[in-house]
Amino acid sequence: MNRTLVIVKPDAVERGLVGEVLARLERRQLRLVAAELRLIDLATARRHYAEHEGKPFIEGVIALLTRSPALVAIVEGPGETWKVVRAMIGATNPAEAAPGTIRGDLAVDMSQNVIHGSDSAESAQREIAIFFPHLA
Ligand code: TYD
Ligand code: MG
Repeated sequence: MNRTLVIVKPDAVERGLVGEVLARLERRQLRLVAAELRLIDLATARRHYAEHEGKPFIEGVIALLTRSPALVAIVEGPGETWKVVRAMIGATNPAEAAPGTIRGDLAVDMSQNVIHGSDSAESAQREIAIFFPHLA
Protein backbone atom coordinates (compact mmCIF):
# COMPACT_ATOMS: atom_id res chain seq x y z
CA MET A 1 0.00 0.00 0.00
CA ASN A 2 1.18 3.50 -0.79
CA ARG A 3 0.44 6.65 1.13
CA THR A 4 0.03 10.27 0.14
CA LEU A 5 -0.70 13.52 1.92
CA VAL A 6 -3.95 15.40 1.46
CA ILE A 7 -4.86 18.79 2.90
CA VAL A 8 -8.46 19.95 2.80
CA LYS A 9 -7.53 23.62 2.81
CA PRO A 10 -9.06 26.24 5.14
CA ASP A 11 -11.33 27.63 2.41
CA ALA A 12 -12.98 24.20 2.11
CA VAL A 13 -13.17 23.64 5.87
CA GLU A 14 -14.82 27.06 6.20
CA ARG A 15 -17.36 26.06 3.53
CA GLY A 16 -18.19 22.79 5.28
CA LEU A 17 -16.74 20.61 2.53
CA VAL A 18 -14.60 18.26 4.64
CA GLY A 19 -17.17 15.46 4.51
CA GLU A 20 -17.70 15.88 0.78
CA VAL A 21 -13.99 15.71 0.00
CA LEU A 22 -13.25 12.78 2.31
CA ALA A 23 -16.31 10.92 1.02
CA ARG A 24 -15.01 11.17 -2.53
CA LEU A 25 -11.63 9.76 -1.51
CA GLU A 26 -13.22 6.96 0.51
CA ARG A 27 -15.64 6.06 -2.29
CA ARG A 28 -12.58 5.63 -4.51
CA GLN A 29 -11.45 3.00 -1.98
CA LEU A 30 -8.65 5.08 -0.57
CA ARG A 31 -8.35 4.48 3.15
CA LEU A 32 -7.80 7.19 5.74
CA VAL A 33 -4.67 6.41 7.75
CA ALA A 34 -4.53 9.68 9.71
CA ALA A 35 -6.62 12.85 9.81
CA GLU A 36 -6.44 15.92 11.99
CA LEU A 37 -8.14 19.30 11.93
CA ARG A 38 -5.23 21.61 12.61
CA LEU A 39 -4.28 25.28 12.44
CA ILE A 40 -1.12 25.14 10.32
CA ASP A 41 1.54 27.56 11.59
CA LEU A 42 3.54 29.84 9.30
CA ALA A 43 6.80 27.92 9.58
CA THR A 44 5.11 24.63 8.70
CA ALA A 45 3.27 26.20 5.76
CA ARG A 46 6.53 27.64 4.39
CA ARG A 47 8.26 24.29 4.77
CA HIS A 48 5.39 22.57 3.01
CA TYR A 49 5.47 25.03 0.09
CA ALA A 50 9.29 25.44 0.05
CA GLU A 51 9.37 24.65 -3.69
CA HIS A 52 7.33 27.81 -4.34
CA GLU A 53 9.45 30.18 -2.23
CA GLY A 54 10.10 33.39 -4.18
CA LYS A 55 7.21 32.91 -6.63
CA PRO A 56 4.71 35.74 -6.95
CA PHE A 57 1.82 33.75 -5.48
CA ILE A 58 3.63 32.33 -2.43
CA GLU A 59 2.44 34.89 0.13
CA GLY A 60 -1.18 34.41 -0.86
CA VAL A 61 -0.86 30.65 -0.69
CA ILE A 62 0.73 30.78 2.76
CA ALA A 63 -1.96 33.18 3.96
CA LEU A 64 -4.69 30.83 2.74
CA LEU A 65 -3.15 27.73 4.29
CA THR A 66 -2.72 29.36 7.71
CA ARG A 67 -5.86 31.49 8.03
CA SER A 68 -8.05 28.92 9.80
CA PRO A 69 -7.90 25.18 10.51
CA ALA A 70 -7.18 22.72 7.70
CA LEU A 71 -7.90 19.00 7.64
CA VAL A 72 -4.53 17.31 7.19
CA ALA A 73 -4.72 13.64 6.26
CA ILE A 74 -2.83 10.64 4.99
CA VAL A 75 -4.64 8.36 2.57
CA GLU A 76 -3.55 4.93 1.47
CA GLY A 77 -4.28 2.75 -1.52
CA PRO A 78 -2.80 0.23 -3.91
CA GLY A 79 -0.53 1.44 -6.69
CA GLU A 80 0.44 5.07 -7.10
CA THR A 81 -1.90 6.66 -4.61
CA TRP A 82 -0.52 10.19 -5.11
CA LYS A 83 -1.38 9.91 -8.81
CA VAL A 84 -4.91 8.67 -8.18
CA VAL A 85 -5.52 11.52 -5.74
CA ARG A 86 -4.06 14.14 -8.10
CA ALA A 87 -6.33 12.89 -10.89
CA MET A 88 -9.32 13.20 -8.56
CA ILE A 89 -8.25 16.72 -7.54
CA GLY A 90 -8.01 18.10 -11.08
CA ALA A 91 -6.05 21.02 -12.50
CA THR A 92 -4.44 23.60 -10.20
CA ASN A 93 -6.59 26.33 -11.70
CA PRO A 94 -10.19 25.31 -10.91
CA ALA A 95 -11.39 27.26 -13.94
CA GLU A 96 -9.54 24.66 -16.02
CA ALA A 97 -10.34 21.63 -13.84
CA ALA A 98 -12.57 19.04 -15.49
CA PRO A 99 -16.08 18.52 -14.13
CA GLY A 100 -16.05 15.39 -11.97
CA THR A 101 -12.80 16.41 -10.29
CA ILE A 102 -12.81 17.89 -6.80
CA ARG A 103 -11.67 21.30 -7.99
CA GLY A 104 -13.79 21.07 -11.13
CA ASP A 105 -16.88 20.49 -9.03
CA LEU A 106 -16.20 22.52 -5.89
CA ALA A 107 -13.94 25.45 -6.78
CA VAL A 108 -13.67 28.29 -9.25
CA ASP A 109 -10.80 30.40 -7.89
CA MET A 110 -7.10 29.51 -8.04
CA SER A 111 -6.45 31.13 -4.66
CA GLN A 112 -9.15 29.02 -2.97
CA ASN A 113 -8.82 25.67 -4.65
CA VAL A 114 -10.08 23.44 -1.83
CA ILE A 115 -7.43 20.73 -1.61
CA HIS A 116 -3.75 19.89 -1.73
CA GLY A 117 -2.38 16.53 -2.82
CA SER A 118 1.27 15.48 -3.04
CA ASP A 119 2.61 15.62 -6.61
CA SER A 120 4.96 12.60 -6.54
CA ALA A 121 5.93 9.66 -4.34
CA GLU A 122 8.91 11.68 -3.09
CA SER A 123 6.71 14.68 -2.27
CA ALA A 124 4.30 12.39 -0.43
CA GLN A 125 7.12 11.07 1.73
CA ARG A 126 8.47 14.57 2.41
CA GLU A 127 5.05 16.02 3.25
CA ILE A 128 3.99 13.11 5.47
CA ALA A 129 7.22 13.69 7.43
CA ILE A 130 6.31 17.37 7.87
CA PHE A 131 2.75 16.85 9.11
CA PHE A 132 2.88 13.38 10.66
CA PRO A 133 6.52 12.76 11.64
CA HIS A 134 5.53 9.77 13.76
CA LEU A 135 4.07 8.09 10.67
CA ALA A 136 6.92 8.87 8.25
P1 TYD B 1 1.06 24.11 -7.15
O1 TYD B 1 1.84 23.23 -6.25
O2 TYD B 1 1.68 24.49 -8.44
O3 TYD B 1 -0.39 23.50 -7.47
P2 TYD B 1 -1.13 22.21 -6.87
O4 TYD B 1 -1.86 22.66 -5.63
O5 TYD B 1 -2.08 21.80 -7.95
O6 TYD B 1 -0.08 21.19 -6.57
O7 TYD B 1 0.71 25.47 -6.38
C1 TYD B 1 0.35 25.44 -5.01
C2 TYD B 1 -0.83 26.35 -4.82
O8 TYD B 1 -0.46 27.67 -5.14
C3 TYD B 1 -2.01 26.04 -5.74
O9 TYD B 1 -2.85 25.06 -5.19
C4 TYD B 1 -2.69 27.38 -5.86
C5 TYD B 1 -1.57 28.37 -5.72
N1 TYD B 1 -1.14 28.92 -7.00
C6 TYD B 1 -1.51 30.21 -7.32
O10 TYD B 1 -2.22 30.88 -6.55
N2 TYD B 1 -1.10 30.74 -8.52
C7 TYD B 1 -0.34 30.02 -9.40
O11 TYD B 1 0.01 30.54 -10.48
C8 TYD B 1 0.04 28.70 -9.05
C9 TYD B 1 0.88 27.87 -9.99
C10 TYD B 1 -0.39 28.17 -7.85
MG1 MG C 1 1.72 21.31 -5.57
